Amino acid sequence: MKLLERVIKNAQSYQKRIVLPEGNEPRTLRATEIILNENIARIILLGNPVEIMQAAEECGVNIKGAVLVDPKTDERRSHYADLMVEIRKSKGLTKEEALEMLNDPLVFAPMMIKNGDADGEIAGAINATGDVLRPAFQFVKTLPGVSVVSGAFLMFVNDPHFGHDGILVFADCAVMPDPDERQLAEIAITTAKTAKSIVGMEPRVAMLSFSTKGSAQHERVSKVENATRIAKELDSTVKIDGELQLDAALIPEVAKLKAPDSEVAGRANVLVFPGLEAANIGYKLVQRLAKAEAIGPVLQGMAAPINDLSRGCSVSDIVNMAAITSNQAAALFE
Ligand code: ACO
Repeated sequence: MKLLERVIKNAQSYQKRIVLPEGNEPRTLRATEIILNENIARIILLGNPVEIMQAAEECGVNIKGAVLVDPKTDERRSHYADLMVEIRKSKGLTKEEALEMLNDPLVFAPMMIKNGDADGEIAGAINATGDVLRPAFQFVKTLPGVSVVSGAFLMFVNDPHFGHDGILVFADCAVMPDPDERQLAEIAITTAKTAKSIVGMEPRVAMLSFSTKGSAQHERVSKVENATRIAKELDSTVKIDGELQLDAALIPEVAKLKAPDSEVAGRANVLVFPGLEAANIGYKLVQRLAKAEAIGPVLQGMAAPINDLSRGCSVSDIVNMAAITSNQAAALFE
């Protein structure tokens, strides 16, 4: 897969520091060995170092070169706790509470990023999405001008006629259960940026609905219509159109009939779904029934790249995500 080769090659040149809070987890350890052997990134594993080394030995992997950090004893704890109290002062967080929270690697990892001790984080092999994301939202927060974090999937379909040579970007498949129109507009713009920075495509964004250009009237259709207008106001340089049904977005013949004046319809490469239900079910349908490769969720809109794995992830999912996270970290400074 050419795209992944490029993303990995870029990562090798960036040498970003990726923190993995699930330091004892076997797939994480196997991925660490590959990432270090292939020189894709520098790795920080969180947990009790003795337990991590024991787990590595049990897995038969060599993690020499990884930095092992114990959140329960690390000398930066007090400093991180001060930082947390400062960030959450409006919520009344005390230093004692912050120190207790730091025992959790899922809190310690974003604090390493916040303090400039790591460039990105990947977790979720053994933790639920919400538990990975909450501390990231609370302490790393969103990029300036962005209020909502969302999750995109890179979908590799087996037909080069679709998307960008067979690659499409779907969002938001992972985070916001029911975005309002402003949030949906932000999701569209951040997904267009992800498509450009990670895939290198010129994004053509379709705002999906069950209606095309007023063919149905419903408050859910109006939401997508309004989100499209707001997205254009947020960034007039992005090619974006809606509301469009999926066939109008992807199939030129249908687009000619339903949205003949659209510069997106019939050749969309970024699909923005109206809500998490449609998006999450939609990407899994394409993945399972059309046998597309799905890479993600790539979390977007956060002030630093923090990516969530599925609990069913494979070792190569973690390796690929480390490369993508490194590319995202590098893109932040462009
Ligand atoms: N972007 C930025 N900040 C956010 C977001 C967001 N999308 N959502 C919540 N926050 C912030 C809130 O503002 C709040 O900040 P504050 O404490 O400073 O006020 C903090 O995060 C916690 O907010 P809550 O509303 O309490 O969020 P909660 O923890 O209840 O939910 C969560 C957030 C976990 C992400 C929730 O939206 C969720 O569960 N989403 C679905 C995740 C999921 O299960 N996805 C499907 C599986 S993934 C897959 O299949 C690939």
